[in-house]
Amino acid sequence: DWTPHAFADITIDDLKSQLGDDKVVLGLSGGVDSSVAALLLHKAIGKNLHCIFVDNGLLRKNEFESVLESYKDLGLNVKGVNAKQLFYDALTGLTDPEQKRKAIGRVFIEVFDDEAHQISDVKWLAQGTIYPDVIESVSVNGGPSATIKSHHNVGGLPDFMKLKIVEPLKSLFKDEVRRVGKALGLPENILHRHPFPGPGLGIRILGEVTPEKVAILQEADYIYIENLKKAGWYDKVWQAGTIYLPIQSVGVMGDERTYENVVSLRAVESVDGMTADWSHLPYELLAKISNEIINNVKGINRVVYDISSKPPATIEWE
Ligand code: XMP
Repeated sequence: DWTPHAFADITIDDLKSQLGDDKVVLGLSGGVDSSVAALLLHKAIGKNLHCIFVDNGLLRKNEFESVLESYKDLGLNVKGVNAKQLFYDALTGLTDPEQKRKAIGRVFIEVFDDEAHQISDVKWLAQGTIYPDVIESVSVNGGPSATIKSHHNVGGLPDFMKLKIVEPLKSLFKDEVRRVGKALGLPENILHRHPFPGPGLGIRILGEVTPEKVAILQEADYIYIENLKKAGWYDKVWQAGTIYLPIQSVGVMGDERTYENVVSLRAVESVDGMTADWSHLPYELLAKISNEIINNVKGINRVVYDISSKPPATIEWE
């Protein structure tokens, strides 16, 4: 019978003999797949695993710091790279969703390639690819691998793409990855994290992305997610997030007229992200979240709830 412990033991042994004393580089995303891949490799080759975690300025509130801290607690050899400004610069003036995705993917590759170059004599690139990524042409799991695949079909490959590839999770489904992660002591904040797209908040801000909009969205999303957790809904939904709409509407605050932006809350039930139904969150919970956002987040005076299912809508808005 398949057990997470047996899988881990066998995989760690295999990795040891496959990799020997070679150095390996891996891009951590904060998600469960790249984290579990890193843990297995760490158990197999220790400090020869070099992890890179890029802050693209499009993560959720406090996420970079708290996840980096978790990685360090796990003993991983990880370098956190603050590359926010490079991403914001590349996004300036872009409004088209595909152009935004491409710009984010391109900068990620440049930053990662730069970092990989600083590791002398690295031989392997590790990826957290899981079985559904292998069978679908497009990854839905947010890892760097998907970004790399879809953005480097033309032109020369960056140097790190010429490395040999190691993918220890290639035969696993998501729930199995979670079980292996749990067996290896991955903390809850990573283990049960909702899927999060590689381009992050960059595709949850419709239209042009600016650092100011990111800051507003992070605050609103933080209130939403914390309330879902407190109410026991975070683990019941497949994915939840907040979308910043490039629409202003009139409101009233005290005796002042306001003219500010709208956020939409999204929560869906799904098995694999391919189809999804909107989650029937309790009205009382939605009311509490809406009030808290409008009263605390400057720049937002209206909150709406997305009641579209996939298909025909998608989970993300861009
Ligand atoms: P959609 O919006 O296509 O999303 O219904 C399905 C799942 O995929 C995630 N998603 C992405 N993941 N890069 C990623 O790594 C992307 O560009 C991307 N777009 C969507 C989305 O969060 C959902 O879980």
